[in-house]
Amino acid sequence: MSEVTVAARKMLDFSIDGVPMQAEDGQTVIQAARANGVDIPHFCWHPELSVPGNCRICMVEIEQDAGDPWFDIACNMPVTAGMRVLLNSEKIVSLRKDTMQFITLNHPVDCGICNKSGECMLQDYHYEHNGAASKSRDPKTHATKFFPLSDRIMLDNERCIMCTLCVRFTNEVSGSKALGAVNRGDHALIRPAEDADFNLDVYSDNVIDLCPVGALLSTTLLDHARVWYLEQTPSVCPGCERGCSIDVWHRRHEWKLNALDPRLNTAIDRITPRENPAVNGLWVCNKARDLAQLFERPRAEQAMQRGAPVELATAVRLAAQLIAAATRPVAIVSSWGSNEELAAFHAAFGTRVPGFVKADHRPLPGEVLEDHLLIKPDKNPNRKAALALYPALPAQVSEALPPDTDLVLVWGEGFDQAHIPAGATVIRLDGFAHADHAQADVFIPISIQTERDGHYTNVAGVVTAFAACFPVKPGIAHAAALFAELGA
Ligand code: SF4
Ligand code: SF4
Ligand code: FES
Repeated sequence: MSEVTVAARKMLDFSIDGVPMQAEDGQTVIQAARANGVDIPHFCWHPELSVPGNCRICMVEIEQDAGDPWFDIACNMPVTAGMRVLLNSEKIVSLRKDTMQFITLNHPVDCGICNKSGECMLQDYHYEHNGAASKSRDPKTHATKFFPLSDRIMLDNERCIMCTLCVRFTNEVSGSKALGAVNRGDHALIRPAEDADFNLDVYSDNVIDLCPVGALLSTTLLDHARVWYLEQTPSVCPGCERGCSIDVWHRRHEWKLNALDPRLNTAIDRITPRENPAVNGLWVCNKARDLAQLFERPRAEQAMQRGAPVELATAVRLAAQLIAAATRPVAIVSSWGSNEELAAFHAAFGTRVPGFVKADHRPLPGEVLEDHLLIKPDKNPNRKAALALYPALPAQVSEALPPDTDLVLVWGEGFDQAHIPAGATVIRLDGFAHADHAQADVFIPISIQTERDGHYTNVAGVVTAFAACFPVKPGIAHAAALFAELGA
């Protein structure tokens, strides 16, 4: 937003429950309230989507100097100068209670077995604004349970409150137009569009977060873990050079499992987007949702000398000796190293060891290369920062590794042993298991993103931090500290 535009904006005085506030001209009551720190209840409204005004829970009473007070929905009502908004008048409190009764009329209220329990807006609003048992004496209307919207998402139509957030997301954000609503009234159902395939929507899992109730369920997370046993750690999706901000959800330390499988204490339970207007806004693609599959691949946990297990300290000492003795060393630099690790690498080896940046990961078969929303073609999170220090590995790899190269230091994944000149000593550093490691003269296992703090610089130059979720196991090195030791 340019300063000229900001300066040109007219500000309007209004009030909520007698508290004077200001709104930008054109803001709706719900937008102005949020900007002033007041949260008006809402189900169908979302700051990034169109306004259908169908849930009515945001109803407020409006008073102005002229005319009678009236009721209107805050999500569609523009603020006008002098407007007095009543959020908690007697009539509005009663109206909101009635609206909650209406919305839960056919809802199964099966919170005890619902995946959304603990973060469900319907549950929260019930206790905040209703709290009473259903007044209805009629049996509830039943609808489909476990309807597969796609391979990834299951729909419980009985829990759906027809807010249409999911439909509008596929129309207005992802663009797949893969969801719609059929029938009317209490027979209305969310259904896949006949001429679209929700499986092809690479942003589909955002509707699970958007759904204010437990109607949309991730098939991989169904009955996986109660949300109150989990905590989130801020992180960055390494799936492409966009570097979307995410939260990695994992088991709280105080709810650690002892008798059951203790590996679940250091497992990723789910990934959700973390709002970052400079990078990804409110969304992530499905690749981020599947990061557990990437991070939970078999790990490299044992230091080796020509395939034989050695202590980590022994491997580090041997590697340092080999680097010090080399006359024509070359480093193959990771594009998954953090800014801190790249800086440590550069500080340790400078120009003494010429470096070339490789792509640790390449697009998977069938993966979307680039699209209109977030996805970028380079499937590595920090190539931009690496290329600021070292040139890219040439397509003809032999140009970087002439035959007289006497040592190759390979950092990270994605570098084939076949590229290494015959007779060169090889040192490999990697976090994941690979058959090539046993062929290296020295192999040193290093920590992965979920075990360390750091920053990535995305393709647009935005630097974003990530934090460690899990402790690193003994025998595994942190690369930044390792480089300092190897350089010394
Ligand atoms: S499934 Fe969820 S997001 Fe979609 S309309 Fe129903 S309640 Fe709203
Ligand atoms: S767009 Fe890229 S960085 Fe963002 S979630 Fe998808 S793969 Fe991850
Ligand atoms: S939030 Fe205003 S009508 Fe739904």
